[in-house]
Amino acid sequence: MKKALSILLALVMVLSLCSMGFAAEEKTVGIAMPTRSLERWNRDGEYLQEQFEAAGYGVELVYSDNDITQQNNDIGNLIADGVDLLIISAIDGESLTQTLADAKDAGIPVIAYDRLIMNTDAISYYVSFDNYTVGVLQGQFVIDTLGLDLEDTSKTYNIEFTAGDPADNNAGFFFGGAFDTLKPYIDAGILNIPSGKTEFEQVATPAWSTDTALTNMQNTLASYYSDGTVLDVALCSNDSTALGVAQAITSDYAGDNQPLVTGQDGDIANLQNIVDGLQTMTVYKNVSDEAGTTLELGKAILAGETPAAELLENLSAEASYDTETYDNGTGVIPSYLLVPYVITKDSLDRLVETGLYEWDANNQYLVSTAATT
Ligand code: BGC
Repeated sequence: MKKALSILLALVMVLSLCSMGFAAEEKTVGIAMPTRSLERWNRDGEYLQEQFEAAGYGVELVYSDNDITQQNNDIGNLIADGVDLLIISAIDGESLTQTLADAKDAGIPVIAYDRLIMNTDAISYYVSFDNYTVGVLQGQFVIDTLGLDLEDTSKTYNIEFTAGDPADNNAGFFFGGAFDTLKPYIDAGILNIPSGKTEFEQVATPAWSTDTALTNMQNTLASYYSDGTVLDVALCSNDSTALGVAQAITSDYAGDNQPLVTGQDGDIANLQNIVDGLQTMTVYKNVSDEAGTTLELGKAILAGETPAAELLENLSAEASYDTETYDNGTGVIPSYLLVPYVITKDSLDRLVETGLYEWDANNQYLVSTAATT
């Protein structure tokens, strides 16, 4: 009996040591997403949480309602909670300097997720897509679809731009990629911009707001197109803005053609608009792959490594390692950049192949297979 008791005691001790050991091993990741009101961040948050938890990490996930003060507070709380790694998609890339200095003081490494965080040396890495290429794909789509030819100036077209949030470092890359690609045709007079709005600042959309994009486009249509001037292209940087622009075209455009409307993300409402002919394309970025890349990077950082190009071998998605493009004001931040691609009505099945979308019961529209969207 005595022997049995001592064996039991020994067993209990071993078990509790194991569980203590395990508890000491478990690391927690703090994830700060900008807002639930823009569709993609719901998907990002969900995939990141799922993938980190499946890999054995604890996760604290916060959304900050597109409110800069709240995001600073939320990240401050994650730091106070003692997370081991921060993954942050900034609402305003310029506004986290002090909070991230605190993270650095606490020895917490930070990954800038999708959007570069400016003016802080607390960032170890940046994970995103090739943001300039997103814009290039939109511009090239316009060139190919309209069959533009610099040698042939006989046919001209009208185009208007809608860009993103000036507080988001990505927005300038998207606009720049599209504008640079189309500029030769603008210079040649093949593409005209009746509103004359050629600068990013003139066409930016704070908070990437659908409503603001709608109002801006309504104003442009009222001022420059009410006399029957034909709008051929609405170059929109992303899907949330394309949604508003498409609505303005439906309600306020006098012409009888459907302009080309570009987008980015593959938001569900926009995929519907693509089926319905109200949007022409979207540049798709597989955010499950973006989460997977962040997981591999996070694992390496938490194991005390300082990964570089060799991490690419562990990734299941195609990506590049970039040490030139993304300078955040304190130096270039090493970046893992995934590859975006174009989706049109004819290639929607490519999204189904990712496993992240499926056709609805009527086989008419795509729906997300993710739980929260
Ligand atoms: C992302 C885009 C998104 C936009 C608005 C950008 O930072 O890269 O994918 O459309 O934010 O949510």
